[in-house]
Amino acid sequence: MARAAVTGGSGKLGRAVVRHLVEHGWDVVNLDRRPSPDGHDPYSQIDLTDYGQAVEALTRIDDRYDGVDALVHLAAIPAPGLQPNSAVFRNNMLASYNVFAAARLAGIDNIVWASSETVLGLPFETPPPYLPVDEEYAPRPESTYSLVKTMEETMVDQFCRWNPDLKATGLRFSNVMYPEDYAKFPSFNDDPALRQWNLWSYIDARDGALAVRLGLEREGTGKEVFVIASPDTVMTTPTADLVAAHYPDLELKRPVSGHETLLSIDKARRLLGYDPNHTWRDHV
Ligand SMILES: NC(=O)c1ccc[n+]([C@@H]2O[C@H](COP(=O)([O-])OP(=O)(O)OC[C@H]3O[C@@H](n4cnc5c(N)ncnc54)[C@H](O)[C@@H]3O)[C@@H](O)[C@H]2O)c1
Repeated sequence: MARAAVTGGSGKLGRAVVRHLVEHGWDVVNLDRRPSPDGHDPYSQIDLTDYGQAVEALTRIDDRYDGVDALVHLAAIPAPGLQPNSAVFRNNMLASYNVFAAARLAGIDNIVWASSETVLGLPFETPPPYLPVDEEYAPRPESTYSLVKTMEETMVDQFCRWNPDLKATGLRFSNVMYPEDYAKFPSFNDDPALRQWNLWSYIDARDGALAVRLGLEREGTGKEVFVIASPDTVMTTPTADLVAAHYPDLELKRPVSGHETLLSIDKARRLLGYDPNHTWRDHV
């Protein structure tokens, strides 16, 4: 059985990822500075800003496990504003450098990591270049949190250049949601401005977990980044009407239908076989 280390496995997205990988035959080690409410075992408490701890965690921790085959790096302060920017930079950048460098030392050449929709230019005070947004234009970070996500994507280019066998998959997740979050969704339609900051998108945690597994299992080497969102918006207003009302001057790269997301998941569908099967509409 292949073993994956999941950093941040106790977090909102991480819990769904750990569960999904175990269900699909992966042996999973949770590396986090706090235990999981799910009680997943093995768990090792770790501060990834300490390089020594990251190296140990990706090689061997006593009799708990001996080596891992793949790394899923999710640990981070997960949004702008939760802590002062310098603290976000320090924690997220250092942790990511440490896990990528430790993985290199440990000979792990299969990595999936959490990037973010924010690199697409959220909250879009400067409108995006076109709709639906995709991976084809350069990152536009508008916060320190997003700057770190952008720097991580750049850093990974060099890790891949240093190790041509490395496969590194960056997932630009939309806003992570669980079914219990869906009760408030119908109210979003009353005020489109409430969720305009990410083009009315979201990602069901279970489909986020699916994308992680597909990233681990994809063929090939080198870096790829993918926008990962649920297939629909949070709105009941059709997507074409939202575009007409809020972005009448933007180029529409292709027609949009129904409630389709404006965060294009076309690349993930094409290269990962990502086929999300959860929508808030089934829960309210
Ligand atoms: N939540 C979202 O809407 C969202 C959207 C896009 C991207 N992301 C990204 O997805 C990932 C997971 O987000 P989440 O919502 O599950 O966040 P979360 O806060 O629920 O979980 C993150 C976990 O990382 C751990 N962690 C943070 N720094 C650590 C460190 N230095 N050492 C060890 N553990 C550490 C925390 O203890 C926590 O359990 C993050 O990288 C985040 O930036 C989240």
